[in-house]
Amino acid sequence: MTQESSVLVISDRPEQASLLVQAIDTVVTCRQITAEAGMPAQRPILAVVDISRDETLANAWVARLHGLRIPSLQLALRAVTSRPAPTRFLPADTARKTVLAAVFSLMDAVQAARQGALARASDRLVRFTAQADTANRSVADAFDAARRGEPLSIAAVDAGTEVILEAVSQCGIRTWLEIIGAYDQQLYQHSLSVAGYAAAFGGGLKLPRTDQMRLARAALLHDVGKSRIPLAILNKPGRLTAGEMAVMRTHPAVGANLLEAQGGFDGPMLAVVRHHHEMLDGSGYPDGLSAHEIPDLVRLVTICDIHSALTERRAYRDPLPHQEAHAIMREMGGKLDGDLLRAFHDAVIVPLTRVSVS
Ligand SMILES: [Fe+2]
Ligand SMILES: [Fe+2]
Repeated sequence: MTQESSVLVISDRPEQASLLVQAIDTVVTCRQITAEAGMPAQRPILAVVDISRDETLANAWVARLHGLRIPSLQLALRAVTSRPAPTRFLPADTARKTVLAAVFSLMDAVQAARQGALARASDRLVRFTAQADTANRSVADAFDAARRGEPLSIAAVDAGTEVILEAVSQCGIRTWLEIIGAYDQQLYQHSLSVAGYAAAFGGGLKLPRTDQMRLARAALLHDVGKSRIPLAILNKPGRLTAGEMAVMRTHPAVGANLLEAQGGFDGPMLAVVRHHHEMLDGSGYPDGLSAHEIPDLVRLVTICDIHSALTERRAYRDPLPHQEAHAIMREMGGKLDGDLLRAFHDAVIVPLTRVSVS
């Protein structure tokens, strides 16, 4: 039995409570603390509040446990008229075997609920993994077609984008990044990551569904020009030389030209592919555009792209933590849109870095 499955008895009647603790401990680890003690660091599966001398203190413990979502059984001096579920109560003088029976039935209920939640979580993970595999195939097919000089299937790209929007809205960006983190093709993983950030960003901004779709689709294909970059440069396990960097920097124009030549991609989409490395202060490439020349859709994808790149592993450096990556982007000054960076923080970084209490 793990400490996670322990029962906590909080009591101001140590002698009586220790008999109860011993009895519970024959089945599951049971710890006893005084009524004045603080909450132990190790979270119990349930708690018994056996505080008979101070009703206010007893109620405070019940409320605290409820706040931490720890089910409790209260041995109350007087009948308790209402308590938040999943709190139960028994009169303080209830026979020990009845208290024990209540503790074990409560524990069974908690464990059954946990197992149900685990099973549901595992079903969801299987579904999200299948969705990520579908999206990965659609990226791989699009990049393979571009590499061979064949037309991309717009329907397949749209289907992949739909899957990403749905998966990210249901499983959240953190789970999405964990799932695609298992893929070994860095370029496809990067595309799925940027598209995932775009989906989370668009959802957080409450953009209309068609705009969310446009944003995620553009993010998915923003680096399609890299399909034409020699693999020796694309997959080089180290920093690029100046010459190699110059070749790498052709990918936005190559990608936009490729999609434009195929036809079927609208102007905003082509702008994202061509201009996602432009900076508001004019220091970006390929065209050195500045502020008003860079549309919002491009600015959004650029933020997702840089954040994704900084938090991805590279052969020559470890991935940066999300907050650190964001701090670096904030320090880029006039290169990125400050309002959108703040919005990205609220919509994407906060949910990503929030500590789960359950
Ligand atoms: Fe790029
Ligand atoms: Fe990129």
